[in-house]
Amino acid sequence: MAREFTRVGVVGLGTMGAGIVEVFARNGLDVTAVEISEAALERGRVTLTGSTDRAVAKGKLAEAERDALLARVDFRVGLEALHDVDLVIEAVPEHLDLKQRIFAELDRVCKPEAILATNTSSLSVTEISVATSRPNQVIGIHFFNPAPVMKLVEVVRTVVTSADVVADVEALCERLGKVDVTISDRAGFIANALLFGYLNHAVGMFEARYATREDIDAAMKLGCGLPMGPLALMDLIGLDTAYEILDTMYRRGGRDRRHAPAPLLKQMVTAGLLGRKSGRGFYTYERPGSPKVVPDEYTPPAGDAALADGARAIAKVGVVGSGTMATGIIEVFAKAGYEVISVTRGAEKSAKVCETVKTSLNKGVVRGKLSETDRDAALGRITWSATLDHLADVDLVVEAVIEELSVKKALFASLDEICKPGVVLATTTSSLPVIDVAMATQRPADVIGLHFFNPAPIMPLVEIVRTIRTSAETSATARAVCATLGKTGVVCGDRSGFIVNALLFPYLNDAVRMLEASYSTADDIDYAMKLGCGYPMGPFELLDVVGLDVSLAIQRELYLELREPGFAPAPLLEHLVTAGYLGRKSGRGFRDHTRR
Ligand SMILES: NC(=O)c1ccc[n+]([C@@H]2O[C@H](COP(=O)([O-])OP(=O)(O)OC[C@H]3O[C@@H](n4cnc5c(N)ncnc54)[C@H](O)[C@@H]3O)[C@@H](O)[C@H]2O)c1
Repeated sequence: MAREFTRVGVVGLGTMGAGIVEVFARNGLDVTAVEISEAALERGRVTLTGSTDRAVAKGKLAEAERDALLARVDFRVGLEALHDVDLVIEAVPEHLDLKQRIFAELDRVCKPEAILATNTSSLSVTEISVATSRPNQVIGIHFFNPAPVMKLVEVVRTVVTSADVVADVEALCERLGKVDVTISDRAGFIANALLFGYLNHAVGMFEARYATREDIDAAMKLGCGLPMGPLALMDLIGLDTAYEILDTMYRRGGRDRRHAPAPLLKQMVTAGLLGRKSGRGFYTYERPGSPKVVPDEYTPPAGDAALADGARAIAKVGVVGSGTMATGIIEVFAKAGYEVISVTRGAEKSAKVCETVKTSLNKGVVRGKLSETDRDAALGRITWSATLDHLADVDLVVEAVIEELSVKKALFASLDEICKPGVVLATTTSSLPVIDVAMATQRPADVIGLHFFNPAPIMPLVEIVRTIRTSAETSATARAVCATLGKTGVVCGDRSGFIVNALLFPYLNDAVRMLEASYSTADDIDYAMKLGCGYPMGPFELLDVVGLDVSLAIQRELYLELREPGFAPAPLLEHLVTAGYLGRKSGRGFRDHTRR
């Protein structure tokens, strides 16, 4: 028979502990909430009441429910208060010696049948368990931040955890309304093992001044649909906690350099910049504990005026190409009021592109997003051509032809001869170095990358890629154009993968490696990222949509340019591509799509 949990204990009421108390109390369990001092206890109480008050204000919790919830919590200093709990979950800082000391103490204080659980993110549950005389009753229950919101719980079973303890904890998770994945004891479990390499990489980009904090975060939110950017997420996690997790993962997880904490993290932690909890991390917050970001000395000036500073006037835009991206980009510019000259390789191709643009604009009309007049005006702004010579007097050219360097270089050399001086020449390449294209012209200062996302009319992000030869004026023009298009332009350097792909694909590749190592299933890994981190799709769903061949090609480019051993494409990804399993488009990738 399943064990009855009536009273549970929570040790440590910081970022995670206070949220875990709320989860338990909200689901009818009595909680003994323990801290190290009266002051820390008071902080925990304030966090809990703040969170439940917000839930009441948002109409998610009735006042009476809140009062009942709070009445279920007994706040105490010292572990002795935990003598009568059925289960205790520890959420103190991520240090093995501290956790071992606490578990030895819990073993002494708690009832012999009590389950002892840790919320550690990266430490070995096994090593923590051996500090007790009951390692078979020790388990990991890894909640996600913020605990009351995130649906996932990783249940970590060591080689000695008894099966009935695992089953009882799984049943408890269900009672709490959580989805659990049960896994073995490996550094970072599923979600953090996939998350922290990415987070650390983002910190490294920021540290190298590759892009601003706002641009890195906007790129991942708007380019991948993530609920938060990586630097804002680091602030939420707490930089001290993140540092410890990375450090442990580096040591336990095979000394992968990608987990060696970025030096900036250590400096920030030492300086007391711990993220939201201290009121300042990568961003500045209204006050310690507040989620509200306030402007600081790094906040970029707001408004279009700032964007347009030094920008050239753009009225006429040439778009070269006839594929998916070119077609979408023509629509975007025409809708935004620019005069557009589309250049394809022939009248037949132009007719096809024109048809696609019309269909897309018509859809906008049917959905009530565009008036018929605006549709007709947009179409009227487009001129269809098959010769580059017609680009002689445009102000901006956007190239979106095939992703082959020789083709792009030849095109840019032609544009250099045809276009008037002062034109901004942009490439939409997603993987080639922009500088190679720029050097095919006599005017590299006017060349820039404008990396649109697919489908261009819908995706709100454009990566603006500056080479070492791009002029400030060209960058300012690109930024102003993106703003006029209603897109968020993020500025970055000319490195493989720019911001989004450089941060996204290694994570996807890591997920493939995890599957390859049989640590978990594709389903559970997808659940972990969706329910634990709020991602719109799991890595295997996304790989199947993007295409395994495309993903492999991007990953290879990243590996070749950065020579980072951790970026080497996962053999399983290579094998699937060789076997013709390319994802949805071929009917099979990580999953079989033919039966749907
Ligand atoms: N922050 C996250 O996003 C996150 C997510 C999942 C899991 N975790 C894990 O949860 C654990 C706690 O992390 P956090 O971010 O909440 O840390 P935190 O620093 O915000 O909170 C830790 C709390 O533990 C208290 N504490 C310290 N020593 C104690 C003792 N001897 N007895 C009782 N209380 C004590 C501290 O006063 C503090 O309030 C770590 O193992 C961490 O890896 C963190």
